[in-house]
Amino acid sequence: MAGIFATAPGKVILFGEHAVVYGHPAIAVPVSQVRAKALIMPIPENKPDEVYIEAPDIHLNSHLNQLPFKNPLRIVIEEVQNALRLSYLPPMKIRITSTIPVAAGLGSGAAVSVALARALSNFLGHPLPDETLCAIAFRAEHSYHGTPSGIDNTVITYNQPIFFQKEKPYQLLNVEKPFRILIGNTGIASPTGEVVAEVRRNREQNPEKYNSIFENISRIVYQAREFIEKGNVNELGPLLTENHKLLQEMGVSCHELDRLVETAIHTGALGAKLSGGGKGGNMIALATPERIPEITQALRDAGATLVIATEIR
Ligand code: PMV
Repeated sequence: MAGIFATAPGKVILFGEHAVVYGHPAIAVPVSQVRAKALIMPIPENKPDEVYIEAPDIHLNSHLNQLPFKNPLRIVIEEVQNALRLSYLPPMKIRITSTIPVAAGLGSGAAVSVALARALSNFLGHPLPDETLCAIAFRAEHSYHGTPSGIDNTVITYNQPIFFQKEKPYQLLNVEKPFRILIGNTGIASPTGEVVAEVRRNREQNPEKYNSIFENISRIVYQAREFIEKGNVNELGPLLTENHKLLQEMGVSCHELDRLVETAIHTGALGAKLSGGGKGGNMIALATPERIPEITQALRDAGATLVIATEIR
């Protein structure tokens, strides 16, 4: 039997990160230029439950049973097995690869989980519905970053722009007019869980300040949704920049992110902000097609380790 594989895209949050953890809405879109892939090969000569996992990007090469119980890959595999009510797994080798930078706000963890759950359930002959894949990836997200809102696994599973609010059904966004964004990576790895925990501590110290920031972000998200659905895409620019200022006030930006945001705006972007957990990782900028080459170059000159242009549609 030949190998079976599945892939899942990366993602960026356009508006609303951090506030989304506290029940406010956010908007996220898939980024198909970067992807995680899970390839599964049978090893018929081996015994049941002999499952090997290799993930060269993170130097992992292990038997499933040797991974810690809290390892997200192990969680995904066991969740798929439970969902399919299988008492054992056929012997197999799982290979995980990804072009999504890790700890960069591009959803690498959730993309690996979705690709793995999808490939494994297909390999086992019972493709699981998206709803179940999304729930499985959410469980693994807890292991990656403590108290996830669920936005990453949702946008990545459904692979479409979404309006997301915790514990509510997600809504697909109707993008009236496609628009382009540039994604610039600072190259600084910043584990989301740590930044989310820091925001939580700061909010406990100063609830009024943080709640008011979250309310302002919420207002931006609703406005952005209207612009996206009406095709007023250029008007998203100032909203991005306003959202970035609120993230700065929240204390989750850093010098390198601010530098890339300022560079993009000075080079003609309509607006820019950090995206994801912050304190490193990525920023995004809204740009008209003709400005993209110049802004891309300026971002590289300002230290971006990777610049991706993507169209939101
Ligand atoms: O995975 P990241 O870095 O894109 O961050 C997710 C966004 C947060 O709102 C900071 C956390 C969450 O779980 O929603």
